[in-house]
Amino acid sequence: PLVLVLNGPNLNLLGLREPEIYGSTTLDEIGAMLEQQGAALGLSVEMRQTNHEGTLVDWLHEARERGAKAVLLNAGAYTHTSVALLDAIRAIELPVIEVHLSDPSKREEFRHISYVGMAAADCVQGLGPDSYRVALDKVAAL
Ligand code: DQA
Repeated sequence: PLVLVLNGPNLNLLGLREPEIYGSTTLDEIGAMLEQQGAALGLSVEMRQTNHEGTLVDWLHEARERGAKAVLLNAGAYTHTSVALLDAIRAIELPVIEVHLSDPSKREEFRHISYVGMAAADCVQGLGPDSYRVALDKVAAL
């Protein structure tokens, strides 16, 4: 079974970007960890990152076309702004698990609303890179 792990804007800078909030692990390192974990769980993990909202929409559609088991989605700041992502998640009829390294509910007010969360099947946040690991375990349990 295929699991797409989709990452949005600024997450390419993980490891360099505000390390006091997001830690020092890079996205490539998280990807390698998930691939290993996926192999152990019998899941084929494909990790991607883009800074463009429409590309995330396209990739969500692709997940449906390819019959993915689930999607892990860290939409970065688009989480808090994007009705297009909310609609895409509803449209694809696949379980999407919202992922965040930090806990947006404990940060600025503008991060408290999540359009992704209005359609996501589940959410794991505030655990740093482990948020992804816990989310992949949830997919295995689906
Ligand atoms: C984030 C949280 C968002 O509020 C922020 O815009 C990000 C990263 C996280 O993983 O903690 O870019 O999604």
